[in-house]
Amino acid sequence: MNPVMVDGTGMCGACRLMVGDQVKFACIDGPEFDGHLVDFDQAIKRSQMYKTEECRVMLKQQEGNTHHGGCGNCEEITNG
Ligand code: FES
Repeated sequence: MNPVMVDGTGMCGACRLMVGDQVKFACIDGPEFDGHLVDFDQAIKRSQMYKTEECRVMLKQQEGNTHHGGCGNCEEITNG
């Protein structure tokens, strides 16, 4: 499993997974788990929580200051 990892210490919870009936953290308990026991539905939902922010950061890197991606500040930026 390679979920989003923030601190890599088991403290932030970003990489939390359910494996069987146990909570696991990919950064400290994995990243390898018995695939038959991983709750993939939950893992996919959790990974999608970060998708918007990841895309926003990626576009900002690609487009620099020309990127105005739904942050709610566009009007403020364009109007000074
Ligand atoms: S990366 Fe933060 S708990 Fe695993």
